[in-house]
Amino acid sequence: MTTPSNTEAPPPRRARDSMTAMTEHVLPQHANALGTVFGGQVLAWIDLCAAICAQRHTGHLAVTAEFDDVSFEAPIEVGQVMLLRARVTAAFRTSVEILVEVEGEDAPTGRRWPCAHAFVTFVAVEKTSGTLRPTTVPALLCESEEDRALAADAHERRARRLARRKRAG
Ligand SMILES: CC(C)(COP(=O)(O)OP(=O)(O)OC[C@H]1O[C@@H](n2cnc3c(N)ncnc32)[C@H](O)[C@@H]1OP(=O)(O)O)[C@@H](O)C(=O)NCCC(=O)NCCS
Repeated sequence: MTTPSNTEAPPPRRARDSMTAMTEHVLPQHANALGTVFGGQVLAWIDLCAAICAQRHTGHLAVTAEFDDVSFEAPIEVGQVMLLRARVTAAFRTSVEILVEVEGEDAPTGRRWPCAHAFVTFVAVEKTSGTLRPTTVPALLCESEEDRALAADAHERRARRLARRKRAG
């Protein structure tokens, strides 16, 4: 395990302070052969939205360490809109877990539907002596029952991730 570039924990932050929203118009260059948004494009937008959220929370550049629990629930067609919302679910030592929820929208009618969601882990990094090193992140201040439930689930996912990494060596 790498020693963090700073060992002093920054002040805690609330999830609402780093919530991030993105709106994308699905165009032909984003589509698969069926005329609906390509899964890889959805992942790229999820990654971007989560990265901004992670940087807002940690106050540092953050790199994607792991995507898990990604699920695609419904398609979005060319001409429709994708709405992404990212929030921190838990902050650990140098990493944070971000939940990104994705909805489709038919802009003329305002109809919306769930499209996908993912949990993404980011590691905050800082350049010291020309080398990128993980850096300590602010704790997450849980303000509601929902915050606490999301954080408890995130700690369980982290335990599974760490066990998986240990097994893989
Ligand atoms: C992520 C990365 C910085 C971790 O560096 P490392 O030297 O392994 O650092 P450590 O072992 O000290 O781990 C640092 C943190 O990363 C977490 N981490 C490392 N690999 C992980 C993985 N596969 N999944 C989830 N978390 C991971 C650790 O749990 C630790 O978090 P914690 O401090 O909150 O407990 C490094 O593996 C890396 O640079 N990966 C490539 C990132 C990248 O290029 N992403 C795509 C473009 S942004």
